[in-house]
Amino acid sequence: MDIRFVTAGSGDVVAVMATDGGDLLAAGKALDTAAGGRSAKAMKAANFQGGAGQVTDVLAPDGVDFARVLVIGVGKADGADGMAVERWAGHAVKRVLTSGAEKLVLQPDALPSVSKAEAGSHAAMGARLAAYRFDTYRTKLKPDQKPSLTVVEIAMDGPAAAKARAEKDAAIVEGVFFARDLVSEPPNVLYPETFAERLRDLETIGCEVEILEPETMERLGMGALLGVAMGSSRPGRLVSIKWNGGSKGAKPVALVGKGVTFDTGGISLKPGAGMDEMKGDMGGAAAVAGAMKAIALRKAKANVVGVVALVENMPGSNAQRPGDIVTTMSGQTIEVLNTDAEGRLILADAVWYAQDKYEPSAVIDLATLTGAVIIALGNENAGMFSNDEDLAHAITVAGQTEGEPVWRLPLGAAYDKLIDTPNADMKNIAGKPVAGSIVGAQFVKRFIKDGTPWAHLDIAGTAWKSGPYEDPLSPAWATGYGVRLLNRLIQNRYEE
Ligand code: BES
Ligand code: MN
Ligand code: ZN
Repeated sequence: MDIRFVTAGSGDVVAVMATDGGDLLAAGKALDTAAGGRSAKAMKAANFQGGAGQVTDVLAPDGVDFARVLVIGVGKADGADGMAVERWAGHAVKRVLTSGAEKLVLQPDALPSVSKAEAGSHAAMGARLAAYRFDTYRTKLKPDQKPSLTVVEIAMDGPAAAKARAEKDAAIVEGVFFARDLVSEPPNVLYPETFAERLRDLETIGCEVEILEPETMERLGMGALLGVAMGSSRPGRLVSIKWNGGSKGAKPVALVGKGVTFDTGGISLKPGAGMDEMKGDMGGAAAVAGAMKAIALRKAKANVVGVVALVENMPGSNAQRPGDIVTTMSGQTIEVLNTDAEGRLILADAVWYAQDKYEPSAVIDLATLTGAVIIALGNENAGMFSNDEDLAHAITVAGQTEGEPVWRLPLGAAYDKLIDTPNADMKNIAGKPVAGSIVGAQFVKRFIKDGTPWAHLDIAGTAWKSGPYEDPLSPAWATGYGVRLLNRLIQNRYEE
């Protein structure tokens, strides 16, 4: 789908904005005047109130060249931000993507807190994100299921500034789509080796990619990661992706991702219902991969390293058992009491490796770590844990700006005690049904060196969602959550 910036658009369908109370903004008013009040009449007849995402569809109006006018609400004018404009554009694309129309014209207007240029670039972002599809394995799509839309024109006075912003934002869209594709791929196609190969491709856009195989991980002492990998015939991988866009010698930020390409639970086998969704248990690694792609494509002036731990968690005669004790790269030992609490095991070695090898200025890990975070926060917020107030604040702001919100949850010594065991330095579960997400975070924290600013994002509730897919910017199962947040965080806090 092509995005074009123009001063006056023409096409099959046009979309205009309206705010709370059903008030058309400038572009919509002009169109309504040309159409002899037809849109206003339709809005009234449909009891259109201008709420965010509310749509009035005006068909075949006289006096304008468009066959269809979509009046779409953005909600309260004062509260509407860039994300509201993205959703507005997303709703328009959602309506016309497979409608038979080939060309959509978006007429964004400025809002009290969104300049016209910002509105234009956000409209482009929203249109692109809303057009995402994962059709790789659909060989029998009927004509009315296939996207018909090929061009989106963004029509506004002085489009140059918006166009320039949108060109830069294309990198972010690429990153989000990369993450969505990785999360969507079936687990027979995407497993540690093939995931690593896809990351190798990031070399073509200027990243350095290093792939560790089991022998090397063995030598480094990554007993926790290898313990999880043991049950699968597909060997694990640990991949580092480096982007050196900052000054030479400046410490990088480390982004670490959980990449369980399929989580059966291992010997502590999960129940069958819904287990297929565990193909998405590499959502943290996908977010890191997508963020690295975005950062590299827009040539960010920062040093960033992504480290992803890739394993498949399977039962089998060679699988680790509840009761096993493994030794991590840090030297600390873990009693594995539940093989389904595997994410923290691979993160233990991955965050340690990231600190040991790259001496980062901060570590941010992302993981679909606990079902408990879905109980606590649903699919609306990721759980955030941090040992650093400034970093936590910066992540909150980045998530807010990009429509990928986080909600901070506590850490503390009393929770930490829950993973003490007489048999080893720690156990991998609390063993009672309390504070599941906090316990997971406390576990990872034991592998963060003193003085390293660190944040852990539990994205189990946000990496994917069950249908219906109401967010127009995330039209498929996989959301790509985390890519925009990380990219924004790097831009706001670490770029020179
Ligand atoms: N990958 C799961 C967490 C998960 C659950 C992600 C649902 C997305 C949706 C993780 O490996 C896991 O199994 N966690 C256990 C931890 C427990 C054994 C302490 C859980 O949440 O039940
Ligand atoms: Mn698990
Ligand atoms: Zn898992």
